[in-house]
Amino acid sequence: SDLEIGIVGSGSMGSGMTLLFSEKGSVVGCYDYDKEAVERVLDQAKEDENVDTSKVHGFTSLEKLFNAFPKGSGGDKKKPRMFVISLPHGKPVDGILDELLPLTEEGDIIIDGGNEWWEDTERRQRKAKDHGVQWIGMGVSGGYQAARHGPSISPGGDKEAYDYVEPFLDKWAARAPNGDACVEYMGPGGAGHYVKMIHNGIEHAHMSILCEVRAILYHQLGLSNDEISNMFESWYKKGPLRGNFLVGIGYKGLRFQEGDGIKDKRGIVEGIEDKVTQDVDKSEGTGTWSTKEMAERHVAAPAIAASHQLRVISANKFERLEVADNLDMPQPKTGSIDDKTKEELLDIVEQAVYGGILGGFIQGLQIISRASTDQKWGIELAKCLRIWRAGCIIQSDAITEFLMPLVEPFGPSEPLNLLQSIPEVAKELRKTYEPMKKLYAYAVEVDAVAPAVGATVEWLKAVGGRNLPTDFEEMELDYFGHHDYDLKAKTEKGSHKGRYHTEFQST
Ligand code: 6PG
Repeated sequence: SDLEIGIVGSGSMGSGMTLLFSEKGSVVGCYDYDKEAVERVLDQAKEDENVDTSKVHGFTSLEKLFNAFPKGSGGDKKKPRMFVISLPHGKPVDGILDELLPLTEEGDIIIDGGNEWWEDTERRQRKAKDHGVQWIGMGVSGGYQAARHGPSISPGGDKEAYDYVEPFLDKWAARAPNGDACVEYMGPGGAGHYVKMIHNGIEHAHMSILCEVRAILYHQLGLSNDEISNMFESWYKKGPLRGNFLVGIGYKGLRFQEGDGIKDKRGIVEGIEDKVTQDVDKSEGTGTWSTKEMAERHVAAPAIAASHQLRVISANKFERLEVADNLDMPQPKTGSIDDKTKEELLDIVEQAVYGGILGGFIQGLQIISRASTDQKWGIELAKCLRIWRAGCIIQSDAITEFLMPLVEPFGPSEPLNLLQSIPEVAKELRKTYEPMKKLYAYAVEVDAVAPAVGATVEWLKAVGGRNLPTDFEEMELDYFGHHDYDLKAKTEKGSHKGRYHTEFQST
């Protein structure tokens, strides 16, 4: 059957990619150990009028998958065999690597298209390289629909291997409004998976802001699902949140009616349990990794951290309800908003959401920039913004159009603090401070849960603060820990450089 690409894993992403790649002209072999999963893909191919079924082949044996490539392509560096893995991160990928390696020949290229922790990607790259095989860690964003119709793609790894796969990725990737393919080589090693991980961190911050705001609009301001949906739709169509994917699916989801429509006028959301668990393994995932990274790299990204923590708190509802019994907290107040306050809040809510979403981008980009410098990956932030123009979950047309030209002049060499080096970005974010503050102040007043909104407000106050409360912290640190401190008067005058210590306790 002369395969061009083998896809390992026939879950929702793997099957989407199988159909997409074959639609784009490649002969694809899909493999899964689960026969039913493979049969499902073959059935989908039959039902899909854009797919030529002669281009899709199913396998439940890896050996057969390998043998279905044209004779001589194994080991041929000009036409290497190419595999895309689409499996849950961690152990499943290590398992498949061990199964694949004995079958590979020098020159073969394996692309891991799942989410993955970047150090695991680099470990596998080294292991594969010992067999003469190139391993590319590739972020694929946009969910199963995008996997089928064109995802946003962030590959990283060996450049030579990337150059070989680039024309393929180019065909598969989503298209930006100007027709550019949303795929760019991010850098060597785990750079591609890193960018995808932080993409998800940003995604989580954005989802948190939106769910916090939706809850306030619904429960405190008393808006109906339809009213909120219309509001989100207008944001999606025009203004600073234009083209924001999560706002877009938000308004469609709120309007969605199952069957004949839900009779008591409740929407889908009201029937959904308020808990968000982690996907594969409870202790891991892109949100956990992003949070760990911001701590290790010393980059402040509190909205990303807060969103992850809300998710963690939400996950175990049983435990949460017992804690709630013990704490007996005031629950978010409902049903008593005066017209004036409501009107004032409705006036600023779009700007407040915009501030949170822009803030999420800035925080995430700064983590990437710092990591890229530390790891010498040479990731250009403009490349991230370019591939986020379409196909991915954090797509936000007006924001990328604003940020891209401002970030483009900066190369990958130095960590970029956008709020320091790009005054236009600082100014834009600044405009959202009062709206965010107003919304957050209201949330505090009515006991609404809004950690990502609050974290963004506090972040802005701190990064924009000329004097932080941390002088007292320095004093205490020196008191108990001989931590030393800088002296204002001395640093200002430039004399007596260096740290000072006070013996607070007489011995
Ligand atoms: C994307 C998503 C996707 C996400 C999974 C699982 O960009 O398409 O970010 O990769 O990771 O849908 O979601 P969680 O990891 O957040 O549970």
